[in-house]
Amino acid sequence: MKATILGTGSALPEKIVSNDDIAQYVDTSDEWIRQRTGIVTRHIATSETATSLCEDAARNALENANVNPEDIDLIVVSTVSSEYRFPSCACILQERLGNKKAMTFDIVVGCAGCVYGLDIADSFIKSGKVKHALVVGVEIISKLVDWADRRTCVLFGDGAGAYVLGASEDDSVGIQGIMSRGLGENGMSLTMKDRPIDNPWHKEDDIKDYLYMDGQAVFKFACRKVPESIKEVLNPLGLTPDDIDKFFLHQANYRIIETVAKMMKQPLEKFPTNMDKVGNISAASVPRIMDEYNRQGLLKKGEKYILCGFGAGLTYATACVIWEKD
Ligand code: UT7
Repeated sequence: MKATILGTGSALPEKIVSNDDIAQYVDTSDEWIRQRTGIVTRHIATSETATSLCEDAARNALENANVNPEDIDLIVVSTVSSEYRFPSCACILQERLGNKKAMTFDIVVGCAGCVYGLDIADSFIKSGKVKHALVVGVEIISKLVDWADRRTCVLFGDGAGAYVLGASEDDSVGIQGIMSRGLGENGMSLTMKDRPIDNPWHKEDDIKDYLYMDGQAVFKFACRKVPESIKEVLNPLGLTPDDIDKFFLHQANYRIIETVAKMMKQPLEKFPTNMDKVGNISAASVPRIMDEYNRQGLLKKGEKYILCGFGAGLTYATACVIWEKD
């Protein structure tokens, strides 16, 4: 038995913010952002919330998969920016979808979150415990960044992306191989602190913390671990990067994608990109770009895809999927 992707969905806030718009607030330029990252515009939440985008993406994916919300047995949401610490975004989504039976939880995995979520769903489906799973990545990173810090505020966008998965008796389709891993020893290169302790017996300084990233350290980690993890997934399948039709990588930086393509001796055309329009949307990144391709009819039955996310933790996750949908 294999777990297979039955549908994709995504949602973005309405407001589009250009590099020039940001340059009005911080010392940056359209030229720097384009050349160093490939990002031109991004969507930033104004009236939208993590839970509203999560619901929109999930509904799109369920419709695309032709699966009823009541039939979902597992809901995994990857987010670090829900408007609630609890209940989980997954529980809020379950209530909004009118689902009564799913196991529901959030995961804190940053940009690798949706591929991690696929790994979890894959295990539950293969164990026979779950028939249909919903995996959503959603982030409102715009509320975590310091809009006076040009090193981070220019990079991110807000959005949500979702997958609906089901069980398939046909082993020649679906998730063929998947791995997820943490690299905690490098975790402090991408951080954001929580509220400080404040009780009658102990009080820590209440410093407002924002997302911090050592960009170069994360860049190097991505360029090393992405090709390594792709090989780790492909080797046991007897496949090589030449056998892969498309590589859907996390859209953090165009230069990471160029480097990975070069290291794996693959043409850049096999690496879809959309960071020019949406920026780095973290956990929503991989499902969003796949959803764009899916809705344009660019995902073909029988084609082999690599899905790869990497980010906070540090964490990374890679899947090899044979597309089943017509
Ligand atoms: O999604 C999670 C995973 N995240 C990633 O994968 C991100 C990986 N890292 C990156 O994509 C890149 O490292 C960045 C895009 C974050 C930064 O690019 P970089 O080429 O590594 O730049 P840098 O940090 O080395 O900075 C180079 C210069 C610095 O100036 P000095 O010190 O050389 O004078 C920065 O102060 O560029 C300056 N700089 C900027 N200048 C204009 C940094 N940000 C900006 C900016 N506008 N927005």
